[in-house]
Amino acid sequence: MKPLIITLDGPSGSGKSTASVRLAKYFKIPCLDTGAMYRTVAYKATEANIPLDDSPALSKLASKLTFKFGFDGDSRWVEVLDNGSNMRMGKEIRTPEVSLAASKIAKLPKVREVLVRKQQEIGRKDGAVVEGRDAGTVIFPHATIKFFVTASAEERAKRRHKELVDSYGIKAQDYGEVLKEILLRDRQDEEREASPSKPADDALIIDTSNLDFEKVVQFLKEKVESRLQTRAAR
Ligand code: DC
Repeated sequence: MKPLIITLDGPSGSGKSTASVRLAKYFKIPCLDTGAMYRTVAYKATEANIPLDDSPALSKLASKLTFKFGFDGDSRWVEVLDNGSNMRMGKEIRTPEVSLAASKIAKLPKVREVLVRKQQEIGRKDGAVVEGRDAGTVIFPHATIKFFVTASAEERAKRRHKELVDSYGIKAQDYGEVLKEILLRDRQDEEREASPSKPADDALIIDTSNLDFEKVVQFLKEKVESRLQTRAAR
């Protein structure tokens, strides 16, 4: 039997991250936060003064990193092995600056190629909930089931602002700034040439703007379960 691969794509603040953790715990598979990989490369590039358009240097940096994912309760973590030292990445990769830097380097086809290969290796082993922008279109085009989770930009900015303050203690931005940043990132992610953020043709699209979150999670679980039953009956 092929490993269970659930893809959840969609823009930032759509609710896909929290939904991914809940699904991964429920189906007992790893939760692959592909955005954290782009964020980590962007963060380390900034630390090393690598320009965010230096594709060869950024790809080289990406290729020497080893990523490990897990969760504690309802929150996920990512650990990165770099030059023999292991580091758990925390709020330093969630800042507004790193968000924009990640979106910039995510335009580079070579960087994407390196990270996609790593994502496929992790997912192929034990299955995974794969969360990102191109999980259903590029990383796992033959996933067991694909979702595209979205919400209005205003609602996403509200959630992102709350998340920055509650989870990461980042208070620097007000709602208006968060909304502006979200719109800019949406444009960068949707309009880029390499693997633009878009639903796969066979993805189920869920707009969570006015939905109760628990109902969304329940809906996703039911869809996966029914897909698994169909697969078992074949
Ligand atoms: O999901 P996130 O906000 O943590 O992602 C950070 C940035 O990385 C976002 O601007 C889009 C990019 N990204 C991507 O291009 N492809 C992915 N699979 C995941 C994230």
